[in-house]
Amino acid sequence: MSNKIRLGILGGGGNSLIGVLHRVASAMHDKYQIVGGVFNSEINKSIDFAKSIDLPTHRVYKNLDSLIEEEQKLSEDKRMQVIAVLTPNYLHFAMAKKLLDNGFHVICEKPMTTTFEEAKILYQTLKDSELIFAVTYTYTGYPMIRQMRDMIKNGVLGKIQKVDAQYYQGWINPIIHNEVERASTWRLDPEKSGISCCLGDIGTHAFDMLEYVSGLKIESVLSDLNFVYSDNKMDVDATVLLRLNNKAKGVICTSQIATGEENSFIIKVYGDKAGIKWEQENPNYLYLMEEGKALQVLKPGHVYNSDLSLDGTKLPPGHPEGIFDAMGNIYKGVAKAINKQAYDHGEFPTIIDGTRGMNFIEKAVESHLKGNVWVKIENQF
Ligand SMILES: NC(=O)c1ccc[n+]([C@@H]2O[C@H](COP(=O)([O-])OP(=O)(O)OC[C@H]3O[C@@H](n4cnc5c(N)ncnc54)[C@H](O)[C@@H]3O)[C@@H](O)[C@H]2O)c1
Repeated sequence: MSNKIRLGILGGGGNSLIGVLHRVASAMHDKYQIVGGVFNSEINKSIDFAKSIDLPTHRVYKNLDSLIEEEQKLSEDKRMQVIAVLTPNYLHFAMAKKLLDNGFHVICEKPMTTTFEEAKILYQTLKDSELIFAVTYTYTGYPMIRQMRDMIKNGVLGKIQKVDAQYYQGWINPIIHNEVERASTWRLDPEKSGISCCLGDIGTHAFDMLEYVSGLKIESVLSDLNFVYSDNKMDVDATVLLRLNNKAKGVICTSQIATGEENSFIIKVYGDKAGIKWEQENPNYLYLMEEGKALQVLKPGHVYNSDLSLDGTKLPPGHPEGIFDAMGNIYKGVAKAINKQAYDHGEFPTIIDGTRGMNFIEKAVESHLKGNVWVKIENQF
């Protein structure tokens, strides 16, 4: 019998953006086998999709309730162990809650829920269980981001005094100027997306990434959002000032109307000894800027990289690591946790990161609505 972890998937069907990333990532380290799921809200489409990827269709279900009912009839050694939730945002909470209540480990897409309240309920549900819950802030899986985290932890930058995340995309620009399209895109629909579009979709990545690499907590935010049209209820651009728990300050600039930008996610952290920066579109280069020294460019797979970074690098130096590899590393970490093997806390984002992310979205929106005032993040998580 196979020793692979039995994985089910919700959403991520043929027409989805993120499905292929999870399928490839789960296969990358030979730790998982996809055994079924609900790939689409329509069963015929789900089955057609399963056939298109050569997946036997007897464990493709019409909805989550029938998945849980049928899977629980199977003996434990056959039942799905972990389910990836890749549906639009508004379905994450109800799905993740049912999965936890019925004893399944969960890999959940971001934003974890549509409200902070829902996130806290998931947190409480998970707290006293032995289940694993990962939130796929994908970019934390890049080897050079892991390297950045370890260098900062080891004091290479000295005392952190400034953090800066820029996440610019341009894909909403043509949509926002077209009345029909802006009314029919799910990310611009509060019912499906939650209270925010830009902050929820990409601002949360920036928030999580700054906390991940710096090891600091963002304590309060002051934001200025742009909706462009008065009939558009969702932010498509946001600038958020940050205050951190070590008294450092920072900024998250995030936009989906940065015309011409693709996925320009740039992280910069400055200490009193050195600065460090990384760009998602060139993820194999990590730039170290030390006072009075020439610029250093660090790359994956070298002896100078940390164990965490090297654990996320599959091939010798010179073979670029990309977004599939980053997600593969997150799946690899989750597999260790499910198999009760030792793992580093930097290997995958958890429910705490997901919950903090939801708090960030709500507080940043609140700050804007109250007239651009400072609002505190709840730091019990
Ligand atoms: N980690 C990342 O970097 C990243 C990147 C893109 C998207 N995402 C997240 O992934 C999620 C999905 O985004 P997307 O762009 O793939 O969306 P999408 O609209 O492209 O795909 C959604 C999929 O869910 C399916 N679906 C919808 N309702 C369903 C239901 N009731 N049951 C089963 N399947 C259902 C659809 O058929 C489709 O296959 C979102 O939460 C988004 O924020 C994360």
